Amino acid sequence: MKKLTGNINVGVFISGRGSNLKELIKYSKKNNTNWKIKLVISNKKEAKGLAYAKKNKITNYAIERKKPQFEKRAFDYLKKNKINLLCLAGFMRILSKEFIRNCKFKIINIHPSLLPKYKGLNTHERAIKAGDKYAGSTVHYVTAKLDSGKKILQTKVKILKKDKPNSLAKRVLKAEHLIYPKAVDVVCNKIV
Ligand code: GRF
Repeated sequence: MKKLTGNINVGVFISGRGSNLKELIKYSKKNNTNWKIKLVISNKKEAKGLAYAKKNKITNYAIERKKPQFEKRAFDYLKKNKINLLCLAGFMRILSKEFIRNCKFKIINIHPSLLPKYKGLNTHERAIKAGDKYAGSTVHYVTAKLDSGKKILQTKVKILKKDKPNSLAKRVLKAEHLIYPKAVDVVCNKIV
């Protein structure tokens, strides 16, 4: 894995709403970070998040293909755009071992739970059902094992008695918007 130095070109994979992408773009502009979002790829062409990329004149592609074709094309775009950090932000597809191995740069993801709890889907519903006091979100490195790579940053959100998965998801999302850009800072400055 190459050490991250100088100006870091960040690629983001999304599948939908893209609110984390929006916050990453906003934060990097406002704080004049050593990283910039240079490429956005969605595996869904109707992904709302693509609009933020367009608005900010960031190179963007929708690749609606089966996984092997998606990965091949996405990999070419990552190379062409000299990406040296890939952020998954609401990207609803599990990347293959081969893709992860071939990327000679770091890949990170944001997951809406206090990992190692609740890997996979329906995290808020599972946390409420289990009677947990806290839910939260984790930014972690992506490895071939789903939601299991080393933690970068984690944030806790209190679960209220009246919470339903949707109400909890809204508060966790707000926390995600704060934590994801900070985690990118951490990765790009080699603090962890
Ligand atoms: C977030 O809750 C993130 O943790 C999960 O998917 C959601 C994406 O939201 N992986 P958005 O597309 O960034 O708004």
